[in-house]
Amino acid sequence: MFRGKQFREQKKTRRANVVSLGKYMPPDILTNFDLEQMVDTSNEWIVERTGIRERHVVKNGMRQSDLALNASREALARVGWAPTDLDAIIVGTVTPDHIFPSSANALAGKLGAIGVPSWDVLAACSGFMYSLYQGVVTVESGRADRVLVVGAEIMTSIVDWDDRSTCVLFGDGAGVLLLEATEEPCGVIDLEIGSDGRYPKLLHMPGGGSAHPATHETVDNKLHTLHMEGQETFKVAVKTMLNVTQTLLNRNNVKSEEIGVYIGHQANLRIIDAVTKRLRLRPDQVYNNIEKYGNTTSATIPSCLYEAEMKGMIKKGDWVVLVSFGAGLTWGGALIKWGIDPLPVLGDELEAGDSVSENYSDQLKPGRDWQRS
Ligand code: UT7
Repeated sequence: MFRGKQFREQKKTRRANVVSLGKYMPPDILTNFDLEQMVDTSNEWIVERTGIRERHVVKNGMRQSDLALNASREALARVGWAPTDLDAIIVGTVTPDHIFPSSANALAGKLGAIGVPSWDVLAACSGFMYSLYQGVVTVESGRADRVLVVGAEIMTSIVDWDDRSTCVLFGDGAGVLLLEATEEPCGVIDLEIGSDGRYPKLLHMPGGGSAHPATHETVDNKLHTLHMEGQETFKVAVKTMLNVTQTLLNRNNVKSEEIGVYIGHQANLRIIDAVTKRLRLRPDQVYNNIEKYGNTTSATIPSCLYEAEMKGMIKKGDWVVLVSFGAGLTWGGALIKWGIDPLPVLGDELEAGDSVSENYSDQLKPGRDWQRS
């Protein structure tokens, strides 16, 4: 039902354009050298096997919805929208503040987007791509003109700090984008999502749901932390991300050399290298930030997109490809014809935001100096 064929057959004039981006990483940094003091690992092993050097971690009591809030405020401010201009808020996450109410509800409340429909999407590392899918089809259907799509995580809250095979991989952070309806031939041109629920144990968190509600035993047995079969996950990740990319390219007659920027889920630099090598992409076509942030699950793709745009790698008219893979198994991809001029850069004082202070939010009131002309 949600696959590309039907999507393509629809005669579309109404599309969802990506009109703004926001990112927020908590200020505290955990380096590989810090991890050497915590588990039996080494900076060399982590860099060589994953490409990660450090990750940002929440230490000051911020919540996942606070990370999402800071990133969302930035994106809104860059186009001068008020939170109440939004028609929907969709948050991809596996680490919401609570199971319910949803993280999207919390974010909407903190933004002051009262009355705006808001919901979470649970698709692990593909959470952002699934959320983007929902945002795009909601806009294309005519039910919404403006949608906030969020990927935000506090992965350090579900990591087993005694398990060296996983605790070195993850970090915290948030990235968002804003979609707006357009009649122009730009924005999200095609999408592909899918799942295969036969392999839940490749990457999962067994406890906390109705199968294993919290007890002393589930805590003692570490059921409330993530577990991963790394090698097997690695192999499926390469294959799946490659398939998704080729499907999108073939369906739209786009050649890999025509891609402006390729952004793959930041789970392991070796996974991305394997995929982009098979696609014969040049290094200047690929943007990664895993070195600085590790795997931030649903936040990896929007935070990469934010940085690539900020660095001037993405120009109006460029093809941008986003591809994810994650637990479930789930996967997702998007082919975007970039449709906007460079976004305004907020001042340092606005980007710093080392906590969700009232000052920070006051400064980021939408519609002021940084409004797009
Ligand atoms: O985001 C969702 C999707 N996630 C992914 O796609 C992740 C996919 N998997 C991976 O990225 C990689 O499999 C890992 C980074 C998790 C592991 O890398 P690997 O090259 O597959 O290592 P491995 O699991 O085969 O382990 C090799 C060795 C083992 O030691 P022995 O048995 O050879 O003596 C591990 O015990 O490395 C050891 N090891 C470590 N050594 C130092 C595992 N973790 C560490 C560590 N530091 N942190």
